[in-house]
Parts: sequence; structure tokens; C-alpha cells
Amino acid sequence: MPKTYNILAVGDVCGKPGLDIIRSKLPGLKRHYDISFCVVNGENADMRGLTPDQADMLLTFGADVVTLGNHAWSNRSILPYLDDNRFILRPGNFAPQAPGRGWDVFPSPMGNIFVMSLIGRLGMDSMTDSPFFALDRALSSDAAGRCRIRLVDFHAEATSEKLAMRHYAAGRVTCLWGTHTHVQTSDAEVTRDGAGYITDLGMTGAVDGILGVKPETSVDHFLGNPRLRYETAAGAAKLECCIFEVFPDSGKALRAEALRIT
Ligand SMILES: [Fe+2]
Repeated sequence: MPKTYNILAVGDVCGKPGLDIIRSKLPGLKRHYDISFCVVNGENADMRGLTPDQADMLLTFGADVVTLGNHAWSNRSILPYLDDNRFILRPGNFAPQAPGRGWDVFPSPMGNIFVMSLIGRLGMDSMTDSPFFALDRALSSDAAGRCRIRLVDFHAEATSEKLAMRHYAAGRVTCLWGTHTHVQTSDAEVTRDGAGYITDLGMTGAVDGILGVKPETSVDHFLGNPRLRYETAAGAAKLECCIFEVFPDSGKALRAEALRIT
């Protein structure tokens, strides 16, 4: 059988509990599963957005690429850094004048890898282009054409939109995973076109919160009380992720396995 490699995709890192478990667990997790390339969604590292220091921390502790989402601009200190650090990707279907980039090609032990960040439109308050046509444009580039391994983080609210992307991207990507909803789905699979897929990776942050948020502040919102600023939940953390085993020669996936580390 041709040689395979393992790729790790880590769900949205939420606040200090998420950053702490990345620091304590990600290096060992990568060694244990012989991970050759790792993508971490970092758009909630500062709960709303992330700072340049937090992005550097994720890259130092094991992320090869950090992807973002609807909170890409929430902490504005990251804006100039997106042009300076090509290992951070904001959604590729943001307006063309937005800082940074939505996809790029990165070196790895299995050769060059194309990685793209996309954001959905259903239930998302973002003025974005179609993620479907943005994917087409990026995949038709010469750079993407030279990469057998193609990875996509689709940051979206609706399971239907993520599954639509799964079918639309079929046969053209190696792995496609969803982020944003912070609840890990149980549908990790390899499609009949050979793509590794999961609707949502889950999140990396406090176990006893509401999507990483302190429960009282979130419950208060649903009771209709005057809105408080969301605070990060405290306590023990979990790291949710998916491992994809891939063939670098064909760009196809062999296995997709969701994991939760506590
Ligand atoms: Fe998000």
C-alpha cells in the first residue's frame, strides 16, 4: 500500500482554557498520532478574535496553519499581522480588499499542501462572497493545481451548508471540515470520492461552558435579560479534533477519525 500521512484539524480554540490545553496537549497528541501537518482554528482564542501573540502561541505549540472565521476582525490588533504572517488564514470569500489571505500553499513532509479557509452565509452575519464560487476560483489557481493535498476549513453555522459544500467539493479536495458551531458531530467519514469529511470538529476550551462561554452569561441572554458581555468559561478543558489519514500521491483520504481529549 502507498505510504500514508496523518493530518490533524483542531476545533475552535476558546479563550485561556483552550490555549492552555493546546500548550499542554497538542505537542504530545501530534507525537502520539504521528501527525505530519496540523491546522488549528484560532478565531476564538481571544473569545472574539485573536491577538498576534495568541496566533504565535498556536503556531509555536503545533499548528502549521491557523484558520479564522466570523471573528477574524473582532480583535483589530490582528489586522496588520494578517498581511505579515502567511500562516494565518482568514476566510477566502471575504471581500477582496480585506487584509491577509484566504488560502495559500504550505510545505510539509508529504510535499506542498493547499489550505483554504471559507465562511458560510446561512445564519452568519458576514457580507461575503459565495464560498462555493470562492472555492472554485482558488482551486483553479496554478498554485492549487500543483498540490495533491488540499484542505478546507469551512466555518459555517448551518449543517446543511456544510453538507452542501461536502458534495460540491467532492473529488476536488483531500479533507473538508466544518468549524464554528463548537459541538463535535459524529459523522467523520471518507466520502466515496475519497475526501475526509466532518461537519464540525467541535471546540477546544472549557468543558463546562456553553460553547466556551461562561454559562450564566449565555443563559441570561436566552432569558431575555439585558445582554452582558460574554465571558470565557473556566475549569477543565477539552480538545476536539479530527485526524485524517491521507495518500499524498493521489490526494485522497483513507480514514477520518474524530477525537476528544480531556
Ligand atoms: Fe465562529
